Amino acid sequence: METINLNIQHALGANMTEAAIDALGHEAKDALAKVENGTGAGNDFLGWVNLPSTTSESLIDDICATAKHLRQECEVVVAVGIGGSYLGAKAVIEALSDSFAAYKNDPKATKVVFAGQNIGEDYLYELMNYLADKKFGIIVISKSGTTTEPAIAFRLLKEMLERKEGKEKASKLIVAITDAKRGALRQLATEEGYKTFVIEDNVGGRFSVLTPVGLLPIAVAGYDIKALLNGAIEMEKATKADDMASNQAMLYAATRNALYRAGKKIEILVNYNPKLHFFGEWWKQLYGESEGKDGKGIFPASVDFSTDLHSMGQWIQDGERTIFETVLSVEAPEHETIIPTDNDNLDGLNYIAGKRVDQVNKMAELGTRIAHTDGGVPNLRITIPALREQYLGQLIYFFEKACGISGYMLNVNPFNQPGVEDYKRNMFALLAKPGYEKETAAIQARVK
Ligand code: PA5
Repeated sequence: METINLNIQHALGANMTEAAIDALGHEAKDALAKVENGTGAGNDFLGWVNLPSTTSESLIDDICATAKHLRQECEVVVAVGIGGSYLGAKAVIEALSDSFAAYKNDPKATKVVFAGQNIGEDYLYELMNYLADKKFGIIVISKSGTTTEPAIAFRLLKEMLERKEGKEKASKLIVAITDAKRGALRQLATEEGYKTFVIEDNVGGRFSVLTPVGLLPIAVAGYDIKALLNGAIEMEKATKADDMASNQAMLYAATRNALYRAGKKIEILVNYNPKLHFFGEWWKQLYGESEGKDGKGIFPASVDFSTDLHSMGQWIQDGERTIFETVLSVEAPEHETIIPTDNDNLDGLNYIAGKRVDQVNKMAELGTRIAHTDGGVPNLRITIPALREQYLGQLIYFFEKACGISGYMLNVNPFNQPGVEDYKRNMFALLAKPGYEKETAAIQARVK
């Protein structure tokens, strides 16, 4: 089986030895057991652990049939959601999509766009402007069914769609993905007769990309969700082994914890392929919300190289030595582009004429790794055979599993996110939401 592969060789050096990582083997093993057996904190949120292998054929068929209906009816489908109800689908679709053309160069292919991931008035105005002359549908995604950002976007888009199509037709172009019973979105979906999918109670938002939350928008965009799930199943099996030599998720979790304990407080996820930009955004949520609590946690950052070598490169090479990098390296690009010879050679590039662009990219990667490790930045490297559904499925599950293990090694509950409630309380108080009268009075006294 071709698979993603983790190499920690270049994380070793003056301040990190193989022995120091091996010494965490027992902790990693205990943490893995907590994830597998449900014996740790937050164990009511472990539904993602065996999810790939237990996803039923009938659910996959239902998702594919719903995607087909939306693709037949719509030029554009707006996926409305935020955080875990947005980032996974966005990451996979961006990784698989042509940077400029419609899906497989078919101008009639349905385009998936996103809303509800911000409260930008201009963003929403421009989105509605863009949709004005298009046949569109909506996938509204909210586990709680009460999140403000997607609720605002959905209210606007629903009203627009109903004006355009009439209420009855509009209700056939809206799909809701939410809790089985609770929340305003469930109630609305039941009343309006929307097609719905359930987000199970035991799967937290940031672990939900392999549920209908991610799978439906990905299928609507035209990608193969069975291959994505198959890749995840391969990694689900491979990460059950309880020794670091054969379980890459354990090795990643142990290595990053060893580095953290040695003073490396920031992990930068690096890519050399712009299609992985949003994979970095998804990864930051996964690790940031899972580990950043109780005054602890590696700060997850991400960069796109070589682009950001011209902005962040100086800091990474030469700034405070509290960072390490995890590099995502795609082995084979989908297309071949050869650098041409130029008779005048005024740009001096003939020395690389005849080479593929990717050969230059790989030398940028190697040169950077040598420079950064020389500069005291330990490097982990994950190779991805190609940007295809199967390998993305492997990568997603690998990071999820490693996150659960790593969180337990850090001795936090990796599956809650109490910190994200604080801004909401203040925002609701400032907006005078009913039920927040005491908080409104208190916060208004502070902002006078
Ligand atoms: O990981 C999480 O739980 C959060 O990031 C949520 O996904 C995010 O807040 C959106 O929540 P909901 O799906 O309930 O609208």
